[in-house]
Amino acid sequence: MEEKRILCIGLVCLDIISVVDNYPEEDSDTRHLRSQRLSVIPGIISNPDISGCVTNSSIFSQGRNASEQIKMLQLVEKYNQTCPPSERVTTSVEVEKTRPQLYQLFCYGDVVFVSKDVAKTFGFYSAPEAVKGLYGRLKPGATLICAWAECGADAMGPDGLLVHSDAFSPETVVDTLGAGDTFNAAVILALSKGKTLPAALTYGCQVAGRKCGVHGYDGIV
Ligand SMILES: *[C@@H]1O[C@H](CO)[C@@H](O)[C@H](O)[C@H]1NC(C)=O
Ligand SMILES: *[C@@H]1O[C@H](CO)[C@@H](O)[C@H](O)[C@H]1NC(C)=O
Ligand SMILES: *[C@@H]1O[C@H](CO)[C@@H](O)[C@H](O)[C@H]1NC(C)=O
Repeated sequence: MEEKRILCIGLVCLDIISVVDNYPEEDSDTRHLRSQRLSVIPGIISNPDISGCVTNSSIFSQGRNASEQIKMLQLVEKYNQTCPPSERVTTSVEVEKTRPQLYQLFCYGDVVFVSKDVAKTFGFYSAPEAVKGLYGRLKPGATLICAWAECGADAMGPDGLLVHSDAFSPETVVDTLGAGDTFNAAVILALSKGKTLPAALTYGCQVAGRKCGVHGYDGIV
């Protein structure tokens, strides 16, 4: 079976992390033990082939610039209307930053990821509360997903059933930077391979949990 291609739109950031023995004192020299470069979005979302990406594709938008991203999503909508259902492009969006302008993105995307921070600004203090409370903002038929660190993640699809996965915490948490992006990437990968929502949610929690137990992203899938 040909794999679905996934185009990611968002910010790629390079974090350079120096691991040191002690919290550095001001004006002191500190020998660093190790450097690590992290590039988010992690590589498990692969092949963003823009040129030919029409059939069996999916587009993921990390909410950064709502007005521009809405224009892009509307182009996808127009494109979808020109092709048979099997060739339509599915979309997902992430509403992570607490910027009201980005809240417009809730009603785009077949799959919407909402962060714990955004959920809290809407007055929700758990993932199940957040997915139930925010689901009405989505377009009909869409799925809302909210991860809540060590509480795992919850989701709701068009059937209105709440789906939950516990977190898979590693024995020792060593590095959580990029865990959220890892979760999103793993869920999208699983859904694009045709996994059910509960299976995709569990897979997302497993991969994100594994990520927290290692420095960087080596060997997480
Ligand atoms: C795209 O997916 C559909 C349904 O999953 C499949 O029938 C079709 O062969 C796929 N097309 C390509 C180009 O992979
Ligand atoms: C979004 O992008 C447009 C076009 O590049 C730019 O004019 C606008 O200032 C951006 N808005 C935000 C909120 O970054
Ligand atoms: C494009 O079509 C797919 C498949 O029918 C649908 O799930 C999706 O919502 C459409 N995307 C947009 C942006 O209209």
